[in-house]
Amino acid sequence: MDKAKRKAIIAGNWKMNKTPKEAKELLTAIAPLVADADCEVIACVPYVDLATAIEATAGTNVKIGAENCHWAASGAFTGEISTGMLKEIGVEYVVLGHSERRQYFGETDETVNKRTKAALAAGLKPIVCVGELLWERECNITEEVIARQIKLDLWDVTEEELKNVVIAYEPVWAIGTGKTATAEQAEEVCAFIRAQLAKLYNQDAADAVTIQYGGSMNDGNADELLSKVNVDGGLIGGASLVAEKFAAIVKAASK
Ligand code: PGA
Repeated sequence: MDKAKRKAIIAGNWKMNKTPKEAKELLTAIAPLVADADCEVIACVPYVDLATAIEATAGTNVKIGAENCHWAASGAFTGEISTGMLKEIGVEYVVLGHSERRQYFGETDETVNKRTKAALAAGLKPIVCVGELLWERECNITEEVIARQIKLDLWDVTEEELKNVVIAYEPVWAIGTGKTATAEQAEEVCAFIRAQLAKLYNQDAADAVTIQYGGSMNDGNADELLSKVNVDGGLIGGASLVAEKFAAIVKAASK
């Protein structure tokens, strides 16, 4: 298992935070702090912030992602955004299957899979989120839950397409709760995800996939989490809204 085979990626997930004006301010503060990063740096922002964010980060190493996308090219899907719309304005990444989408907006593994396939076909790089509920962990079925999500969410994704997929392991009980998984718990599940990918594809393909941890990752615990061999980066919620905290995590991933 060779960590050097993969790109470390730190991605901010801003969720429903920051107006376009505030987004510009935050990105203008972040960009110089992460200019020397030895990892990929992404900010995934609300739809209305995307154009401003892309403009504010032009010429920097900060890439911009969306927080969701629909699978259809166009049509009667009120409130949804297509991959073509995102591509045209210069979006590179898209978060898919976040637990908040699954929990509050009826997202299922089937729709996550449809969105993932569409994103890949459009040339976007999906950050596919998986993770168990606290109840599922307590019932000792974390691995079953994760194996099912990985299999269904990546259904029909080819080995070639997998090169553009990032997986984020986000235990639902750790998101926004301040309750981080221990580095050992994160490593255990990230390693399990890689083993599942090796089963579905092959070891080389699995070794090349960036697997992030997400769930209350911050400037205090990033070092330890990122020191684990299968933890290749982070998907950061709360701490991504504070330039110095986000930059400190980027620094930890650059070591
Ligand atoms: P958090 O969110 O860092 O605020 O826990 C992580 C996420 O939901 O991606």
